[in-house]
Amino acid sequence: MIVCVCHRISDWTIARAAQSGMPFDDVQRAYGVATQCGKCETCARAVWAAGSPAQPVSVATVTGATVVLLPA
Ligand code: FES
Repeated sequence: MIVCVCHRISDWTIARAAQSGMPFDDVQRAYGVATQCGKCETCARAVWAAGSPAQPVSVATVTGATVVLLPA
């Protein structure tokens, strides 16, 4: 699923970055997530948090959509 429409960044890309230990600020710098219109920020942060090693959650619900993060 595309999370950031402005930069065409998927939940998979954000989750993989989070799983690698990339802080959200670095995800923004690397991919431009939530740096244009900003409408994706809440969803992007939720996907990132779910994929972050500090919060090992395998399933997250984001504004009505279920995001399933698969193990690396
Ligand atoms: S949808 Fe991500 S910055 Fe616009």
